Amino acid sequence: MKIAVIQGPNLNMLGIREQQIYGPMKLEQIHTQMKEFAEQNGVEVEFFQSNLEGEIVDRIQECYGDADGIIINAAAYTHTSIAIRDAISAVNMPCIEVHISNINRREDFRKENMLAPVCTSSIVGFGPFGYHMAMIGMLQIMTEMKAAKEAQQAASAQQ
Ligand code: DQA
Repeated sequence: MKIAVIQGPNLNMLGIREQQIYGPMKLEQIHTQMKEFAEQNGVEVEFFQSNLEGEIVDRIQECYGDADGIIINAAAYTHTSIAIRDAISAVNMPCIEVHISNINRREDFRKENMLAPVCTSSIVGFGPFGYHMAMIGMLQIMTEMKAAKEAQQAASAQQ
């Protein structure tokens, strides 16, 4: 099983940018923890960060037929990007969005969320721990999908 982790603009500045909101942890540290958890659970994980909307769309499209699930923090594009929303819809696979801060308790423009309606789930406001929660959630989704597929196969074998 492969999980693609996609990080949007300015998340490469974690540990430097607005520490009172995002905390002191750097993106590399978050990714190291996610990789450790993935290895412990026999899962492959790939990381990508871009400040460019089109590159994020390209990366989501590449997941089609290659990854089993996506964990995405589209950062500021969450609030504006129909293109990223359409890409998530297009690949039609489990997608969990993460926000380090609680976007619902901040400026009004952050309450607008283009992506949530096409994501399987949203995790907001838990700090970097939200990425760990997303990994656990993705494993659960995969387990349930596998069980459903096996049940379906068993049912059609009986017919
Ligand atoms: C963010 C929230 C966004 O509103 C903001 O533009 C970010 C980070 C978060 O993780 O809390 O860059 O996605």
